[in-house]
Amino acid sequence: MSGLDGRVALVTGGARGIGAATASRLAADGADVAIVDVDESSAAQTAKEIAQNTGRRVLGFGADVTDSEQVTAVVDQVAEELGSLGILVNNAGVTRDNLLFKMTDADWDTVIAVHMRGFFLASRAAHRHMVAARWGRIISLSSVSALGTRGQLNYSAAKAGLQGATRTLAIELGPFGITANTVAPGFVVTEMTAQLAERLGATLEAFTAERAAVTPLRRAGTPADIAGVIAFLASDDSSFITGQTIYADGGRRL
Ligand SMILES: NC(=O)c1ccc[n+]([C@@H]2O[C@H](COP(=O)([O-])OP(=O)(O)OC[C@H]3O[C@@H](n4cnc5c(N)ncnc54)[C@H](O)[C@@H]3O)[C@@H](O)[C@H]2O)c1
Repeated sequence: MSGLDGRVALVTGGARGIGAATASRLAADGADVAIVDVDESSAAQTAKEIAQNTGRRVLGFGADVTDSEQVTAVVDQVAEELGSLGILVNNAGVTRDNLLFKMTDADWDTVIAVHMRGFFLASRAAHRHMVAARWGRIISLSSVSALGTRGQLNYSAAKAGLQGATRTLAIELGPFGITANTVAPGFVVTEMTAQLAERLGATLEAFTAERAAVTPLRRAGTPADIAGVIAFLASDDSSFITGQTIYADGGRRL
């Protein structure tokens, strides 16, 4: 018997990276999982692979987390196909890095929309199912960038905003048995950080080695490192923890 037997989870941005590792871990722990991603074909492919590896029901869906109608529809479809939705992981994310003087309106709006509007729309749609069941977990991906990072005015605002919004969710939803927490990773090797390395003109290997050298644990994070923290927050072992941010950064805040 695994810790998440009988639970249904939805992971936004789950087609790859931290989201895919999280979907895989939640399924391995016994949950049925919906992967919702703007990249529908990758979501379906990742879901198929995880289903084969874990024997759980894992389905891929295409939806843009910034689109209210799409989010509402997909959350209801997940509940219909997999059963009462109990675990929501707000993971979908993008970066549009630029120093203030070069940051465009679109850079700002895109990042705030995917992280913050996405969090709002998915949490609003999902919490109705959780309130009905009097049990739920809303886990959102913040970042060490919430503490400030050069070139990430938009992203750090979104990631800090998620921490505040999560504390409010914890207050509003606690009476219904629903916890809300954020996980704030440090440097984790994924497509997102590969793009960052490319933008800075470094190879991913050199960039990763540089980050590892200034991290107390002397390595970069892996998607599985973050998935493990999310799995804990999704489980009953974390049932008295809400409104918190857990930094998973190898000891390096910035
Ligand atoms: N990689 C890191 O070092 C790191 C550090 C701290 C926080 N994070 C956060 O963790 C989360 C996952 O990051 P990652 O590194 O795995 O990124 P990634 O780029 O590898 O994956 C992000 C996923 O989100 C999906 N996505 C993007 N926009 C979407 C939208 N509008 N609707 C639905 N899906 C959408 C993408 O298609 C992709 O599959 C993000 O929120 C990111 O900000 C990452």
